Order: sequence, then C-alpha cells, then structure tokens
Amino acid sequence: MFITLEGPDGSGKSTQAALLAERLRECGLSVLLTREPGGTELGEALRKILLNPDKELAVMTEVLLMAADRAQHVEEVIKPALQNNMIVICDRYIDSSLAYQGFGLLGDISKVLAINEVAIGGLWPNLTLLLDVEPKVGLARHAMASNVSGSAPGLDRIERRELSFHQRVRKGYHSLQRIYGERFYTIDTTDLKTDIVAQQAWEVVVRRFCIPECTSKTYLKEGEGHEIDHCHSAGSGC
Ligand SMILES: Nc1ncnc2c1ncn2[C@@H]1O[C@H](COP(=O)(O)OP(=O)(O)OP(=O)(O)O)[C@@H](O)[C@H]1O
Ligand SMILES: [Mg+2]
Repeated sequence: MFITLEGPDGSGKSTQAALLAERLRECGLSVLLTREPGGTELGEALRKILLNPDKELAVMTEVLLMAADRAQHVEEVIKPALQNNMIVICDRYIDSSLAYQGFGLLGDISKVLAINEVAIGGLWPNLTLLLDVEPKVGLARHAMASNVSGSAPGLDRIERRELSFHQRVRKGYHSLQRIYGERFYTIDTTDLKTDIVAQQAWEVVVRRFCIPECTSKTYLKEGEGHEIDHCHSAGSGC
C-alpha cells in the first residue's frame, strides 16, 4: 500500500497524512509516514535549498533537484518499507512535480514526466488523495497559522509565487486527475473542516485497500470509547 497526498499549498496534506497514519497505526498496522522534498538526509538538505526564499533557482534546476530527492527517497526509504510490508504514506510525490514544475512553470508535463519516470523507477502510488483547495484559501491558512502561533514558518520560495502560478498548479492537479483517474481520489477541502476531510480520506482508504475498519480512539467522542481492538469488516467492495 503506497498512498500519496497531493494538492495545492495549504490544502491540508501534512495534517491529513499525520491523521491517516495515526488512525492506521491505531488499527495495529505498520505505517511509514514520509514527505517530499525530504524524507532522507540528502532530501532534507535538498529541501532547504529548494524552499529557501533567498535562493534563485533555474526552472530545470528545480525540476532536477526535486527528481534527485525523489530518486534517493524511493531507493533509500520507500521501496525498503514496502518490501517490509509497511503502509507508506508520502506527503507529496511525483504529481507535485507534474503540477508545480510541469503545469505551473513549464506549461506542460512532458519533460518533467520523463525525468520523474526515471526517478521513481516504476514505483507509482496505489492511491493518490488529492486534497484540493482554492489557492487563496490555502495560502490564507498558512498566513493565519503564522499569525496565530507566531512559530509557524513564513511562506517558502514556492508558496511565495504569484497567485496565477498557484491557480495553474490547481488546474494542473485537475488535469492529472483526468489523466490518472483510477489512482486518484479528490476531496475539495476549501469549505470542509479537518475532521470531515479525515473521515472522507479514511473511508476511501478502507474501501480501496479492503482493510478491516477499527473503532479508533481518535475518532470517538468522549464517553463513546471502548477498546481500540474492536474491529469489524469494512463492508461493501471487500
Ligand atoms: N480543512 C481545513 N480547514 C481549515 N484549516 C485547515 C484545514 N486543513 C488544514 N488546515 C490548516 O491549514 C494549515 C495548512 O495545513 P497543512 O500544513 O496540513 O497543509 P499542506 O497542504 O501540508 O500545506 P503545504 O502544501 O504548504 O505543505 C495548517 O495550519 C492547518 O492546521
Ligand atoms: Mg505540508
């Protein structure tokens, strides 16, 4: 099971990736939660370069560094985890490159796709949860988090790009959904609360992978909780 979370900035990928991993772990499943760029020591170093607002990068440098990060991540982390029968949840993967550098910067995905097909060596996700959001709303969520906590980092180099770039990225994701329809499931989070998105994502994962659904502590209201190990069949389709 290789699940990726994709979508424009501030759509809730990192929030939902963590919630999904937690819920699967509460069901006794072994989960690796990882992210791109990053996920390896080299990748975290590349992430600093790629997202540093003080660094200018040529478009193809950005494409190639993202792909280099991914190639390392696949070999060092993702493939071994899948071979160990872990569920891998990856916060951004190949579709981010296709949407941001392909549709967002270059206007088409052919070069980015060719480079990334080499980088992933055939390892496509089984399920891609596309968390969609109106770009203004997504960017405002980050701004609000920065203002409220005072500790959240400011916008990174890619988030700082003009609104029209973020709109091309969003449309790009919609195109990817049409191209790769079978592995995609889209949730528009613009007007949805975090727990509603989490529940929808959970139901998709349960259906798609026919996993036994657990009564997870995280999702029970106070007073309703019993034991975490109460499992029942996921029902239709399995
Ligand atoms: N459905 C939602 N409604 C409102 N706020 C949300 C929702 N989901 C996440 N948030 C908040 O929006 C902010 C961005 O969420 P998060 O970091 O998960 O997004 P992201 O998609 O990972 O962003 P990025 O693309 O920049 O990594 C956080 O402060 C988070 O708490
Ligand atoms: Mg994130």
